[in-house]
Amino acid sequence: MKDRYLAFLAIIGAVCLLSYTSGDPTGYTIEELRTLYSSGDQSKWPAPHLFAEAKEGFQDIGPLSKMIFPDDNPYSEDKMELGKMLFFDPRLSKSGQISCANCHNPEIGWSDGSRVSFGHDRQTGVRNAPTLVNIGYAKTFFWDGRAATLEEQVKGPIENPVEMNFHMALATKNIKKIKGYKPFFEKAFGNGDVTEEKITKAIATFERSLISPPSKFDKFVSGKKDALNDAELNGLHLFRTKANCINCHNTPYFSDQKFHNLGLTYYGRKYEDPGRYVVTQKNEDVGKFKTPTLREVSENKPYMHNGLFPELANIVMMYNAGMGRETPKGDQVNDPKFPHKSDMIEKLNLTDDEVFDLVAFLKSLNSYKYKMRPPELAR
Ligand code: HEC
Ligand code: HEC
Repeated sequence: MKDRYLAFLAIIGAVCLLSYTSGDPTGYTIEELRTLYSSGDQSKWPAPHLFAEAKEGFQDIGPLSKMIFPDDNPYSEDKMELGKMLFFDPRLSKSGQISCANCHNPEIGWSDGSRVSFGHDRQTGVRNAPTLVNIGYAKTFFWDGRAATLEEQVKGPIENPVEMNFHMALATKNIKKIKGYKPFFEKAFGNGDVTEEKITKAIATFERSLISPPSKFDKFVSGKKDALNDAELNGLHLFRTKANCINCHNTPYFSDQKFHNLGLTYYGRKYEDPGRYVVTQKNEDVGKFKTPTLREVSENKPYMHNGLFPELANIVMMYNAGMGRETPKGDQVNDPKFPHKSDMIEKLNLTDDEVFDLVAFLKSLNSYKYKMRPPELAR
């Protein structure tokens, strides 16, 4: 009898413990979370859930630091203004119709709103155009990281046959022919010669000036206690803990600047994209893509390197399910290149409310719509 009574007590105890942990997995109330996260002191934040792989060099999310301009291309307003004009100028393309802003349109989150971009003769590319807001904080460029600096990157789209389909030297010649540009080059560089190097430096300077103003998230963690509502705050906490997002979307730029495979390679199929492998030729890099920033993310639909997901909620539900699985078929079992999904992607067991809260948090990473009127072009 006594034994049964003890067993009964043990079961009640276990049930209480379970319901305690599942209702409030980290043991914080929403008021406590509000106090800790809005304290302005990151050392008071609850510890992030990190996999061993993500620990090295880990830096938490937080407000952006000041932009650092490279020594060989320092900031000046005149150079930025020249870069802005070039960015919006279709005369850098072969057809004279496509400017950088066609695909990185300030009206649509500095992207193009399309699943994949189309350029010269409406030919379609294979990848989704990333936003350029805060791009100066990135350490490598393109989804596969194939360019190391913004200066180096500029040539890519100008010479890509399905984008601007031109040659940097010919684009430079085109700009040189436009008399009205000379004074702008003079102001920016001290002399009016038009060179390839000056064009790339000016555009890169303009891109580094695209910095989003503080978001609701930034204001909240800097001490404005009511900047996030309960759902957004709970989303922030989930992002850093139960949902694992912080393992890859970290640093104030919300990207670890590394490459990961989320299982979206389409290996051996029509839409296959080997991603980082193109650059390194290493088998383990097949299907890895650069972790994108999440700042201003709700403006940058559709999502992923291939524009697969139309809405943020689709993405969070996919993460919740542990993403897709690519199973080797037939001979693929012995294929050393067969892509493997990151070990940091696993089923999350988020409730519907938690999915909603995470989406609300992602939307709090927006500032206001960061638009810009196209400048008047030199004639
Ligand atoms: C036809 C559409 C198109 C045009 C025109 C275009 N881009 Fe892009 N841009 C893209 C696409 C698509 C990608 C991603 C390509 C990839 O990763 O392989 C990209 C990537 C980038 C990136 C890297 C972003 C990141 O997060 O790594 C930068 C920077 C960039 N473009 C700047 C420019 C500049 C500057 C111009 C004008 C000289 C330009 N783009 C013209 C479509 C375009
Ligand atoms: C293992 C690293 C990793 C983890 C963990 C991770 N992400 Fe990502 N995330 C990425 C990579 C890499 C991409 C781009 C993948 C691609 O295009 O194939 C991405 C893309 C995204 C995008 C699309 C952004 C865009 O501009 O296209 C969103 C939104 C996003 N992640 C949110 C989240 C959220 C929310 C979580 C947590 C539930 C999370 N991520 C967890 C690495 C990760």
